[in-house]
Amino acid sequence: MTAKTIESRTFNPVPAAQAKAEAIAKAKALAPDLAVRIGSTPKTKFRGNPDVFGRLVEDHDRHRALLAMIEETTGNSPEREMLFTELVQELKGHAAAEEQALWSTVLRDPNTTDFARHAIAEHKEIDDMLADLAARDMASSAWLRRFAGLREEYLHHIREEEQEQFVAAEKHLSASDLRYMRQVFNRRKREEKAAAKIEEKINLKN
Ligand SMILES: [Fe+2]
Ligand SMILES: [Fe+2]
Repeated sequence: MTAKTIESRTFNPVPAAQAKAEAIAKAKALAPDLAVRIGSTPKTKFRGNPDVFGRLVEDHDRHRALLAMIEETTGNSPEREMLFTELVQELKGHAAAEEQALWSTVLRDPNTTDFARHAIAEHKEIDDMLADLAARDMASSAWLRRFAGLREEYLHHIREEEQEQFVAAEKHLSASDLRYMRQVFNRRKREEKAAAKIEEKINLKN
């Protein structure tokens, strides 16, 4: 039995389909009346170790749902504002906790440095796009066009994490790395999300 198998057996992970459904339900509960087809968002088969990578993919499912929901909102409706605020806090909290729990470990292994560097660079790009959107008029039609750009960038980011970087990282992480990841992610996500601030900064390149 490998160290990884022992690790996953010490927990009682939620089955993949249930984890996905619960993550989407968390997003939907914010605006239950919004007509949105969450099922049309891209999905991935990879979930990895359920309480390590599966936990990250669970957040990604929630983010895919939030992105689809915001696309269905109109003008400067309270729903658009509330869901965008939730998205910014979710994405910032997730990215920071992911860096602290996972990418810091992956970064210091020469075999996987490039994967971590790539993911972290994209976090910064996404952060800049969120600040740009926060600084612009939500009621204008241009806002939704710019939002579609962020959605595309973020879906690309999480698809690449799930299909390439997590897969590569999983092969190199030791049992203690996985334990560290598990111990750190949930706590840091909670704290980072609570502390996340909506920054407003126009990005002229955009
Ligand atoms: Fe990420
Ligand atoms: Fe992620």
